[in-house]
Amino acid sequence: MDRIRIVGGNELHGVIPISGAKNAALPLMIASLLTDDTLTLENVPHLADVEQLIRILGNHGADISVNGRRERQGESYARTVHFTSRNIVSTTAPYELVSKMRASFWVIGPLLAREGKARVSLPGGCAIGTRPVDLFIEGLAALGANIEIDGGYVNATAPAGGLIGARYVFPKVSVGATHVLMMAATLANGTTVLGNAAREPEVVDLAKCLNAMGAKISGQGTSTITIEGVRSLSGARHRVLPDRIETGTYAMAVAMAGGDVILEDTEASLLDTALEAIRRAGAEISETNNGIRIVRNGAGIKPVDIVTDPFPGFPTDLQAQFMGLMTRSSGVSHITETIFENRFMHVQELARLGAKISLSGQTAKVEGVSRLKGAPVMATDLRASVSLVIAGLAAEGETMVSRVYHLDRGFERLEEKLTRCGAHVERVSD
Ligand code: UD1
Repeated sequence: MDRIRIVGGNELHGVIPISGAKNAALPLMIASLLTDDTLTLENVPHLADVEQLIRILGNHGADISVNGRRERQGESYARTVHFTSRNIVSTTAPYELVSKMRASFWVIGPLLAREGKARVSLPGGCAIGTRPVDLFIEGLAALGANIEIDGGYVNATAPAGGLIGARYVFPKVSVGATHVLMMAATLANGTTVLGNAAREPEVVDLAKCLNAMGAKISGQGTSTITIEGVRSLSGARHRVLPDRIETGTYAMAVAMAGGDVILEDTEASLLDTALEAIRRAGAEISETNNGIRIVRNGAGIKPVDIVTDPFPGFPTDLQAQFMGLMTRSSGVSHITETIFENRFMHVQELARLGAKISLSGQTAKVEGVSRLKGAPVMATDLRASVSLVIAGLAAEGETMVSRVYHLDRGFERLEEKLTRCGAHVERVSD
Protein backbone atom coordinates (compact mmCIF):
# COMPACT_ATOMS: atom_id res chain seq x y z
CA MET A 1 0.00 0.00 0.00
CA ASP A 2 1.28 3.48 -0.88
CA ARG A 3 2.71 5.85 1.68
CA ILE A 4 3.77 9.49 1.44
CA ARG A 5 7.25 10.42 2.63
CA ILE A 6 7.89 14.03 3.55
CA VAL A 7 11.19 15.56 4.56
CA GLY A 8 10.34 18.83 6.24
CA GLY A 9 12.10 22.16 6.21
CA ASN A 10 11.76 23.44 2.64
CA GLU A 11 9.88 26.62 1.80
CA LEU A 12 7.32 26.52 -1.01
CA HIS A 13 7.81 28.72 -4.08
CA GLY A 14 5.95 28.54 -7.37
CA VAL A 15 2.50 27.93 -8.79
CA ILE A 16 -0.06 25.32 -7.75
CA PRO A 17 -2.99 24.67 -10.11
CA ILE A 18 -6.24 24.08 -8.22
CA SER A 19 -8.46 21.26 -9.47
CA GLY A 20 -12.21 21.19 -9.92
CA ALA A 21 -14.05 20.66 -6.64
CA LYS A 22 -14.64 17.06 -5.63
CA ASN A 23 -17.67 18.11 -3.59
CA ALA A 24 -19.21 19.84 -6.61
CA ALA A 25 -18.26 17.17 -9.15
CA LEU A 26 -19.99 14.37 -7.20
CA PRO A 27 -23.51 15.91 -7.04
CA LEU A 28 -23.15 17.22 -10.60
CA MET A 29 -22.35 13.73 -11.84
CA ILE A 30 -25.35 12.38 -9.94
CA ALA A 31 -27.57 15.04 -11.54
CA SER A 32 -26.87 13.41 -14.90
CA LEU A 33 -29.30 10.65 -13.85
CA LEU A 34 -32.16 13.19 -14.10
CA THR A 35 -32.07 13.31 -17.91
CA ASP A 36 -31.87 10.90 -20.84
CA ASP A 37 -29.73 13.46 -22.62
CA THR A 38 -25.95 14.00 -22.26
CA LEU A 39 -24.53 16.07 -19.42
CA THR A 40 -20.97 17.17 -20.13
CA LEU A 41 -18.85 18.24 -17.18
CA GLU A 42 -15.55 20.04 -17.63
CA ASN A 43 -12.81 20.38 -15.02
CA VAL A 44 -13.64 17.06 -13.35
CA PRO A 45 -10.84 16.11 -10.94
CA HIS A 46 -9.17 12.74 -11.28
CA LEU A 47 -9.83 11.26 -7.83
CA ALA A 48 -10.68 7.92 -6.31
CA ASP A 49 -14.13 9.21 -5.25
CA VAL A 50 -14.93 10.33 -8.79
CA GLU A 51 -13.88 6.95 -10.18
CA GLN A 52 -16.03 5.21 -7.58
CA LEU A 53 -19.07 7.30 -8.53
CA ILE A 54 -18.46 6.53 -12.21
CA ARG A 55 -18.84 2.84 -11.28
CA ILE A 56 -22.03 3.55 -9.35
CA LEU A 57 -23.62 5.58 -12.15
CA GLY A 58 -22.65 2.87 -14.62
CA ASN A 59 -24.58 0.40 -12.50
CA HIS A 60 -27.73 2.52 -13.02
CA GLY A 61 -27.20 2.54 -16.78
CA ALA A 62 -25.14 5.66 -17.38
CA ASP A 63 -22.86 5.60 -20.37
CA ILE A 64 -19.76 7.56 -19.42
CA SER A 65 -16.91 8.69 -21.59
CA VAL A 66 -13.87 10.63 -20.56
CA ASN A 67 -12.45 12.98 -23.13
CA GLY A 68 -9.46 11.25 -24.70
CA ARG A 69 -7.70 14.56 -25.04
CA ARG A 70 -7.03 15.56 -21.52
CA GLU A 71 -7.13 19.30 -21.19
CA ARG A 72 -3.74 20.38 -19.85
CA GLN A 73 -3.88 22.82 -16.97
CA GLY A 74 -0.49 23.57 -15.49
CA GLU A 75 0.52 20.29 -13.94
CA SER A 76 -2.92 18.87 -13.38
CA TYR A 77 -5.29 17.37 -15.86
CA ALA A 78 -8.82 18.66 -15.81
CA ARG A 79 -10.92 16.11 -17.56
CA THR A 80 -14.07 16.58 -19.54
CA VAL A 81 -16.52 13.77 -18.89
CA HIS A 82 -19.77 13.00 -20.73
CA PHE A 83 -22.64 11.25 -18.91
CA THR A 84 -25.62 9.82 -20.76
CA SER A 85 -28.30 7.86 -18.92
CA ARG A 86 -30.60 7.09 -21.84
CA ASN A 87 -32.37 4.44 -19.76
CA ILE A 88 -32.12 3.73 -16.07
CA VAL A 89 -31.43 -0.01 -15.97
CA SER A 90 -31.44 -0.36 -12.19
CA THR A 91 -32.93 1.73 -9.40
CA THR A 92 -30.94 -0.18 -6.76
CA ALA A 93 -27.67 1.16 -5.39
CA PRO A 94 -26.13 -1.85 -3.66
CA TYR A 95 -24.24 -1.93 -0.37
CA GLU A 96 -20.94 -2.99 -2.01
CA LEU A 97 -20.89 0.27 -3.99
CA VAL A 98 -22.55 2.74 -1.61
CA SER A 99 -20.57 1.66 1.46
CA LYS A 100 -17.35 3.00 -0.06
CA MET A 101 -18.53 6.59 -0.32
CA ARG A 102 -21.29 8.40 1.50
CA ALA A 103 -22.17 10.75 -1.37
CA SER A 104 -23.29 7.83 -3.53
CA PHE A 105 -26.41 7.69 -1.33
CA TRP A 106 -27.45 10.88 -3.09
CA VAL A 107 -28.52 8.94 -6.22
CA ILE A 108 -31.76 8.42 -4.29
CA GLY A 109 -32.96 11.90 -5.35
CA PRO A 110 -32.70 11.60 -9.15
CA LEU A 111 -33.76 7.93 -9.22
CA LEU A 112 -36.90 8.65 -7.24
CA ALA A 113 -37.72 11.75 -9.28
CA ARG A 114 -37.19 10.15 -12.67
CA GLU A 115 -38.19 6.51 -12.11
CA GLY A 116 -40.60 6.87 -9.20
CA LYS A 117 -38.61 4.46 -7.04
CA ALA A 118 -35.19 3.87 -5.55
CA ARG A 119 -33.61 1.25 -3.33
CA VAL A 120 -30.38 2.61 -1.92
CA SER A 121 -28.11 1.10 0.69
CA LEU A 122 -27.46 3.15 3.80
CA PRO A 123 -24.10 4.87 3.27
CA GLY A 124 -20.51 4.48 4.48
CA GLY A 125 -17.73 7.02 3.89
CA CYS A 126 -15.33 8.79 6.25
CA ALA A 127 -15.54 7.66 9.87
CA ILE A 128 -16.17 11.17 11.17
CA GLY A 129 -19.23 10.74 13.29
CA THR A 130 -22.52 8.95 12.89
CA ARG A 131 -23.68 10.93 9.82
CA PRO A 132 -27.32 9.82 9.72
CA VAL A 133 -29.72 10.18 6.75
CA ASP A 134 -32.83 11.30 8.63
CA LEU A 135 -32.99 14.67 6.86
CA PHE A 136 -33.01 13.04 3.44
CA ILE A 137 -35.81 10.74 4.48
CA GLU A 138 -37.88 13.45 6.12
CA GLY A 139 -37.39 15.79 3.15
CA LEU A 140 -38.26 13.21 0.48
CA ALA A 141 -41.30 12.18 2.53
CA ALA A 142 -42.38 15.86 2.50
CA LEU A 143 -42.37 15.60 -1.33
CA GLY A 144 -44.81 12.71 -1.03
CA ALA A 145 -42.40 9.75 -1.12
CA ASN A 146 -43.20 6.65 0.85
CA ILE A 147 -40.03 5.49 2.59
CA GLU A 148 -39.18 2.29 4.41
CA ILE A 149 -35.89 1.12 5.81
CA ASP A 150 -35.35 -2.57 5.49
CA GLY A 151 -32.25 -4.75 5.73
CA GLY A 152 -29.82 -1.83 5.54
CA TYR A 153 -31.58 -0.33 2.54
CA VAL A 154 -33.79 2.71 2.09
CA ASN A 155 -36.74 1.82 -0.15
CA ALA A 156 -38.38 4.93 -1.54
CA THR A 157 -41.44 5.16 -3.79
CA ALA A 158 -43.04 8.26 -5.30
CA PRO A 159 -46.83 8.69 -5.57
CA ALA A 160 -48.38 7.46 -8.86
CA GLY A 161 -48.20 10.89 -10.54
CA GLY A 162 -44.67 11.62 -9.29
CA LEU A 163 -43.22 13.64 -6.42
CA ILE A 164 -45.24 16.64 -5.25
CA GLY A 165 -43.79 20.09 -4.60
CA ALA A 166 -43.88 21.07 -0.93
CA ARG A 167 -42.39 23.38 1.65
CA TYR A 168 -39.69 21.75 3.77
CA VAL A 169 -37.52 23.45 6.37
CA PHE A 170 -34.36 21.53 7.28
CA PRO A 171 -34.06 21.24 11.07
CA LYS A 172 -30.27 21.30 10.57
CA VAL A 173 -28.15 22.54 7.67
CA SER A 174 -27.09 19.64 5.47
CA VAL A 175 -25.18 19.97 2.22
CA GLY A 176 -26.06 16.50 0.97
CA ALA A 177 -29.76 16.68 1.86
CA THR A 178 -29.99 20.09 0.15
CA HIS A 179 -28.42 18.63 -3.02
CA VAL A 180 -30.79 15.67 -2.99
CA LEU A 181 -34.01 17.59 -2.33
CA MET A 182 -33.08 20.19 -4.92
CA MET A 183 -32.49 17.47 -7.51
CA ALA A 184 -35.65 15.57 -6.61
CA ALA A 185 -37.80 18.72 -6.69
CA THR A 186 -36.72 19.68 -10.23
CA LEU A 187 -39.07 17.02 -11.66
CA ALA A 188 -41.83 17.25 -9.00
CA ASN A 189 -45.33 18.51 -9.71
CA GLY A 190 -45.58 22.07 -8.45
CA THR A 191 -43.24 24.26 -6.47
CA THR A 192 -40.90 23.26 -3.65
CA VAL A 193 -39.51 25.71 -1.14
CA LEU A 194 -36.53 24.55 0.92
CA GLY A 195 -35.90 26.52 4.11
CA ASN A 196 -32.66 26.52 6.13
CA ALA A 197 -30.95 25.13 3.02
CA ALA A 198 -27.16 24.82 2.76
CA ARG A 199 -25.53 27.89 1.17
CA GLU A 200 -22.29 26.20 0.15
CA PRO A 201 -20.81 27.18 -3.25
CA GLU A 202 -21.22 23.57 -4.36
CA VAL A 203 -25.01 23.89 -3.88
CA VAL A 204 -24.95 27.01 -6.03
CA ASP A 205 -22.90 25.19 -8.67
CA LEU A 206 -25.38 22.33 -8.77
CA ALA A 207 -28.33 24.74 -9.09
CA LYS A 208 -26.53 26.53 -11.93
CA CYS A 209 -26.02 23.27 -13.79
CA LEU A 210 -29.61 22.10 -13.16
CA ASN A 211 -30.91 25.43 -14.49
CA ALA A 212 -28.75 24.96 -17.60
CA MET A 213 -30.52 21.60 -17.96
CA GLY A 214 -33.91 23.37 -17.90
CA ALA A 215 -34.73 23.37 -14.18
CA LYS A 216 -36.31 26.41 -12.55
CA ILE A 217 -34.36 27.03 -9.37
CA SER A 218 -33.93 30.36 -7.60
CA GLY A 219 -32.53 31.48 -4.26
CA GLN A 220 -29.48 29.19 -4.34
CA GLY A 221 -26.72 30.65 -2.16
CA THR A 222 -29.35 31.90 0.32
CA SER A 223 -31.03 29.74 2.92
CA THR A 224 -34.32 29.61 1.00
CA ILE A 225 -34.27 27.80 -2.33
CA THR A 226 -37.34 27.69 -4.56
CA ILE A 227 -37.72 25.00 -7.21
CA GLU A 228 -40.56 25.05 -9.73
CA GLY A 229 -40.98 21.52 -11.03
CA VAL A 230 -40.63 20.91 -14.78
CA ARG A 231 -41.68 17.88 -16.85
CA SER A 232 -38.20 16.90 -17.99
CA LEU A 233 -34.61 18.07 -18.06
CA SER A 234 -32.24 18.15 -21.01
CA GLY A 235 -28.49 17.84 -21.36
CA ALA A 236 -26.06 20.69 -20.74
CA ARG A 237 -22.39 21.55 -20.57
CA HIS A 238 -21.07 22.78 -17.25
CA ARG A 239 -17.66 23.57 -15.77
CA VAL A 240 -17.07 22.31 -12.21
CA LEU A 241 -16.15 25.16 -9.87
CA PRO A 242 -12.67 25.29 -8.24
CA ASP A 243 -12.01 23.23 -5.13
CA ARG A 244 -12.12 25.64 -2.18
CA ILE A 245 -10.90 22.96 0.22
CA GLU A 246 -7.87 22.20 -1.92
CA THR A 247 -7.28 25.96 -2.21
CA GLY A 248 -7.42 26.44 1.55
CA THR A 249 -5.24 23.39 2.15
CA TYR A 250 -2.40 24.66 -0.03
CA ALA A 251 -2.77 28.17 1.40
CA MET A 252 -2.25 26.63 4.85
CA ALA A 253 0.67 24.56 3.56
CA VAL A 254 2.39 27.76 2.42
CA ALA A 255 1.55 29.50 5.69
CA MET A 256 3.14 26.54 7.48
CA ALA A 257 6.26 26.01 5.38
CA GLY A 258 6.82 29.68 4.45
CA GLY A 259 7.45 30.90 0.91
CA ASP A 260 5.55 32.52 -1.93
CA VAL A 261 3.02 30.59 -4.00
CA ILE A 262 0.31 31.43 -6.51
CA LEU A 263 -2.76 29.21 -6.34
CA GLU A 264 -4.06 29.21 -9.88
CA ASP A 265 -7.59 28.68 -11.28
CA THR A 266 -9.37 29.41 -8.03
CA GLU A 267 -11.34 32.20 -6.35
CA ALA A 268 -10.77 33.85 -2.98
CA SER A 269 -14.51 34.52 -2.59
CA LEU A 270 -15.09 30.77 -2.19
CA LEU A 271 -13.25 30.76 1.13
CA ASP A 272 -13.17 34.23 2.65
CA THR A 273 -13.49 33.05 6.26
CA ALA A 274 -10.64 30.55 5.99
CA LEU A 275 -8.38 33.03 4.18
CA GLU A 276 -9.06 35.60 6.89
CA ALA A 277 -7.95 33.09 9.53
CA ILE A 278 -4.76 32.36 7.57
CA ARG A 279 -4.11 36.10 7.26
CA ARG A 280 -4.51 36.54 10.99
CA ALA A 281 -2.04 33.70 11.44
CA GLY A 282 0.54 35.86 9.69
CA ALA A 283 0.47 35.11 5.95
CA GLU A 284 -0.09 37.77 3.31
CA ILE A 285 -2.85 36.91 0.88
CA SER A 286 -3.74 38.81 -2.27
CA GLU A 287 -5.95 38.09 -5.26
CA THR A 288 -4.43 37.64 -8.71
CA ASN A 289 -6.23 37.62 -12.09
CA ASN A 290 -6.82 33.94 -11.88
CA GLY A 291 -6.34 32.96 -8.26
CA ILE A 292 -4.65 33.81 -5.00
CA ARG A 293 -1.08 34.65 -3.98
CA ILE A 294 0.04 33.61 -0.53
CA VAL A 295 3.29 34.71 1.08
CA ARG A 296 4.88 34.11 4.46
CA ASN A 297 8.43 35.37 4.77
CA GLY A 298 10.20 35.35 8.08
CA ALA A 299 7.25 36.23 10.30
CA GLY A 300 6.21 33.52 12.73
CA ILE A 301 2.79 31.87 12.89
CA LYS A 302 0.34 33.58 15.26
CA PRO A 303 -2.31 31.70 17.23
CA VAL A 304 -5.87 32.10 15.90
CA ASP A 305 -9.10 30.64 17.30
CA ILE A 306 -11.63 29.19 14.85
CA VAL A 307 -15.08 27.63 15.03
CA THR A 308 -16.34 25.50 12.14
CA ASP A 309 -19.75 26.39 10.74
CA PRO A 310 -21.82 25.86 7.61
CA PHE A 311 -20.92 28.21 4.74
CA PRO A 312 -19.98 31.07 4.88
CA GLY A 313 -18.37 30.02 8.18
CA PHE A 314 -15.02 28.29 8.58
CA PRO A 315 -15.36 24.94 6.72
CA THR A 316 -15.13 21.76 8.74
CA ASP A 317 -13.17 20.29 5.82
CA LEU A 318 -10.31 22.71 6.62
CA GLN A 319 -10.37 22.22 10.40
CA ALA A 320 -7.71 19.51 10.52
CA GLN A 321 -5.38 21.43 8.22
CA PHE A 322 -5.75 24.59 10.30
CA MET A 323 -4.95 22.60 13.41
CA GLY A 324 -1.82 21.37 11.65
CA LEU A 325 -0.83 24.99 11.06
CA MET A 326 -1.58 26.02 14.64
CA THR A 327 0.73 23.33 16.06
CA ARG A 328 3.63 25.68 15.19
CA SER A 329 2.04 28.94 16.34
CA SER A 330 3.65 31.17 18.94
CA GLY A 331 0.82 30.77 21.48
CA VAL A 332 -2.42 28.99 22.35
CA SER A 333 -5.30 28.58 19.90
CA HIS A 334 -8.73 26.98 20.27
CA ILE A 335 -10.35 25.01 17.48
CA THR A 336 -14.02 24.18 17.87
CA GLU A 337 -15.77 21.65 15.63
CA THR A 338 -19.54 22.11 15.42
CA ILE A 339 -20.45 20.08 12.32
CA PHE A 340 -19.22 16.56 13.03
CA GLU A 341 -18.59 14.89 16.36
CA ASN A 342 -15.47 12.72 16.33
CA ARG A 343 -13.66 14.82 13.76
CA PHE A 344 -10.51 15.05 15.85
CA MET A 345 -8.81 11.82 14.89
CA HIS A 346 -5.83 13.75 13.56
CA VAL A 347 -5.05 15.01 17.09
CA GLN A 348 -3.33 11.81 18.15
CA GLU A 349 -1.32 11.64 14.96
CA LEU A 350 -0.25 15.29 15.18
CA ALA A 351 0.88 14.55 18.74
CA ARG A 352 3.24 11.91 17.33
CA LEU A 353 5.03 14.75 15.54
CA GLY A 354 5.39 16.65 18.82
CA ALA A 355 2.23 18.78 18.75
CA LYS A 356 0.68 19.74 22.10
CA ILE A 357 -3.09 19.42 21.81
CA SER A 358 -5.71 18.69 24.44
CA LEU A 359 -9.37 17.99 23.80
CA SER A 360 -12.33 19.13 25.81
CA GLY A 361 -15.65 18.23 24.22
CA GLN A 362 -15.86 19.78 20.78
CA THR A 363 -12.87 22.10 21.34
CA ALA A 364 -9.19 21.39 20.86
CA LYS A 365 -6.66 23.55 22.68
CA VAL A 366 -3.47 23.77 20.65
CA GLU A 367 -0.32 25.02 22.37
CA GLY A 368 2.12 25.97 19.66
CA VAL A 369 5.56 24.38 19.80
CA SER A 370 8.79 25.73 18.34
CA ARG A 371 9.65 22.49 16.58
CA LEU A 372 7.91 19.39 15.26
CA LYS A 373 9.86 16.23 14.61
CA GLY A 374 9.10 13.78 11.79
CA ALA A 375 7.58 10.40 12.68
CA PRO A 376 5.52 7.61 11.10
CA VAL A 377 1.83 8.63 11.20
CA MET A 378 -1.42 7.21 9.93
CA ALA A 379 -4.08 8.93 7.84
CA THR A 380 -7.50 8.43 9.44
CA ASP A 381 -9.79 10.27 7.06
CA LEU A 382 -9.62 12.43 3.99
CA ARG A 383 -9.01 15.85 5.51
CA ALA A 384 -7.12 14.56 8.56
CA SER A 385 -4.60 12.93 6.27
CA VAL A 386 -3.63 16.16 4.59
CA SER A 387 -3.18 17.90 7.96
CA LEU A 388 -0.38 15.42 8.59
CA VAL A 389 1.23 16.40 5.30
CA ILE A 390 1.05 20.07 6.30
CA ALA A 391 2.64 19.34 9.67
CA GLY A 392 5.24 17.15 7.98
CA LEU A 393 6.30 20.07 5.76
CA ALA A 394 7.46 21.93 8.85
CA ALA A 395 8.73 18.96 10.87
CA GLU A 396 12.42 18.18 11.18
CA GLY A 397 13.40 15.02 9.36
CA GLU A 398 11.17 12.39 7.85
CA THR A 399 7.40 12.01 8.24
CA MET A 400 5.93 8.90 6.69
CA VAL A 401 2.14 9.00 6.20
CA SER A 402 0.49 5.61 5.75
CA ARG A 403 -3.07 4.80 4.57
CA VAL A 404 -2.68 7.28 1.76
CA TYR A 405 -5.82 6.00 0.03
CA HIS A 406 -7.68 8.53 2.17
CA LEU A 407 -5.70 11.32 0.48
CA ASP A 408 -6.31 9.91 -2.99
CA ARG A 409 -10.05 10.23 -2.44
CA GLY A 410 -9.84 14.01 -2.47
CA PHE A 411 -6.47 15.46 -3.49
CA GLU A 412 -5.41 15.24 -7.11
CA ARG A 413 -1.66 14.78 -7.63
CA LEU A 414 -0.80 16.18 -4.21
CA GLU A 415 2.82 15.10 -4.10
CA GLU A 416 3.45 16.46 -7.59
CA LYS A 417 1.86 19.82 -6.82
CA LEU A 418 3.95 20.24 -3.65
CA THR A 419 7.19 18.92 -5.15
CA ARG A 420 6.92 21.43 -8.01
CA CYS A 421 7.08 24.16 -5.36
CA GLY A 422 10.22 22.78 -3.75
CA ALA A 423 8.80 20.51 -1.06
CA HIS A 424 10.35 17.15 -0.45
CA VAL A 425 7.31 14.91 -0.79
CA GLU A 426 7.23 11.55 -2.51
CA ARG A 427 4.96 8.56 -2.85
CA VAL A 428 6.50 5.31 -1.74
CA SER A 429 4.96 2.10 -3.05
CA ASP A 430 5.69 -1.03 -1.00
C1 UD1 B 1 -20.65 17.42 2.77
C2 UD1 B 1 -19.26 17.30 2.20
C3 UD1 B 1 -18.25 17.09 3.33
C4 UD1 B 1 -18.38 18.22 4.35
C5 UD1 B 1 -19.82 18.37 4.82
C6 UD1 B 1 -20.04 19.59 5.71
C7 UD1 B 1 -19.53 16.28 0.04
C8 UD1 B 1 -19.33 15.10 -0.84
N1 UD1 B 1 -19.19 16.15 1.31
O1 UD1 B 1 -20.93 16.21 3.45
O2 UD1 B 1 -16.95 17.10 2.75
O3 UD1 B 1 -17.57 17.93 5.46
O4 UD1 B 1 -20.70 18.53 3.68
O5 UD1 B 1 -19.64 20.74 5.08
O6 UD1 B 1 -19.96 17.33 -0.42
N2 UD1 B 1 -26.85 15.24 9.16
C9 UD1 B 1 -27.89 14.69 9.86
N3 UD1 B 1 -28.86 14.02 9.17
C10 UD1 B 1 -28.82 13.92 7.80
C11 UD1 B 1 -27.75 14.50 7.11
C12 UD1 B 1 -26.77 15.16 7.82
O7 UD1 B 1 -27.95 14.77 11.09
O8 UD1 B 1 -29.73 13.30 7.24
C13 UD1 B 1 -25.78 15.93 9.92
C14 UD1 B 1 -24.41 15.29 9.78
O9 UD1 B 1 -24.24 14.21 10.64
C15 UD1 B 1 -23.52 16.46 10.12
C16 UD1 B 1 -24.29 17.67 9.58
O10 UD1 B 1 -25.63 17.23 9.41
O11 UD1 B 1 -23.42 16.59 11.51
C17 UD1 B 1 -23.79 18.20 8.27
O12 UD1 B 1 -23.65 17.14 7.35
P1 UD1 B 1 -23.86 17.34 5.79
O13 UD1 B 1 -23.83 18.80 5.46
O14 UD1 B 1 -25.04 16.57 5.37
O15 UD1 B 1 -22.56 16.64 5.23
P2 UD1 B 1 -22.41 15.85 3.87
O16 UD1 B 1 -23.35 16.42 2.87
O17 UD1 B 1 -22.42 14.40 4.14
